[in-house]
Amino acid sequence: MKTTTTTKTTHYEIQKKRRESLLDEWKGYHKTVQKRRDVVMHDVPSRRIRSGVYAGYDGDRPTKNLDATVHELAPHTATTIHRHSWDAIEFIESGRGWTEIDGQRIDWRPWDTLHLPTWAWHRHGNDADKPAIFHTWSVEPMLEQFGVALIEDGGDTPVAELPRRQRQADVIAGSDPHARRRQRLGQQWAGTESARLITRFDEVRGLVTKRGARSLFLVDKSIGYHTAGLSAVMHELAPGLYQSRHRHGGEAWLYVVSGRGHSEVDGVEYPWEAGDLIVVDHWSWHQHFNDDKEKTARLIRVHNFDALYDMIRILLDPLNLFEELPELDAPDLTGIVWPDHFAGRPE
Ligand SMILES: [Fe+2]
Ligand SMILES: [Fe+2]
Repeated sequence: MKTTTTTKTTHYEIQKKRRESLLDEWKGYHKTVQKRRDVVMHDVPSRRIRSGVYAGYDGDRPTKNLDATVHELAPHTATTIHRHSWDAIEFIESGRGWTEIDGQRIDWRPWDTLHLPTWAWHRHGNDADKPAIFHTWSVEPMLEQFGVALIEDGGDTPVAELPRRQRQADVIAGSDPHARRRQRLGQQWAGTESARLITRFDEVRGLVTKRGARSLFLVDKSIGYHTAGLSAVMHELAPGLYQSRHRHGGEAWLYVVSGRGHSEVDGVEYPWEAGDLIVVDHWSWHQHFNDDKEKTARLIRVHNFDALYDMIRILLDPLNLFEELPELDAPDLTGIVWPDHFAGRPE
């Protein structure tokens, strides 16, 4: 039997509708400030931990690039071991414990920051009498978007009995296309297994920047890490003051370690306090203010500009995806008496 399609809707309308509904759907997921009290903690028996999602597919607020999760590890407990194709930053909020990365045990305390590299087996432990709380910020959504998010569960198998970390094929001589690829990838991969894994808060100090904060790198390629573009910086806003206003595409997340304040995003004020996560929507003019006249506010900015965002900038040039005021409206910080580096750090 012969059939003829009689629909009047063309490919153009269908595609247009699909594109519009995608953006409408994603706008619905955005929330500027995720309050700590709204993060629901769940028992995760397969990992022997409790976890709650600030933002990401694993919670009720899907994301396309980064995700943010908080974990609580009970006293005298160690998690199972696993590894995955994405990497993550781990920031310790409170408690003392350890993370074992490819068999190397790293002890940590509050405000230490670790990097969990791609394909490295890892598990966490708490030998103390108090719970330990840490945050992870990963690029799992980005890898999921590309269809290359893979997770492997090692259960309670000792790391020595598990397959070693994925490695790059050896560099080979020659100038043919395949040899050139092997040389380039070999160079990019070099040093990944010996890259830095922890920034101890004891060993770093902040510096005052032109943007109007005292800042220090926690995880970044400039301080010896080998990440898939992830970077974290701690910004400390002076009492009653603010950072200069700017806007950019993509995602820059700010986790509030201590203090209270508000962010102005396209003219709307969003209050925040310790434990909250600020997700600045793309291309919105924004500025972060410390509302406490006595104490500084500490925020950790996380993004992966070195990977996805740089790629997008190149693909969308000449669209400008980062903008500051011609003259930065940062406050004058001369004469500010900064508190001790460790002020407010949990024991
Ligand atoms: Fe993990
Ligand atoms: Fe920003």
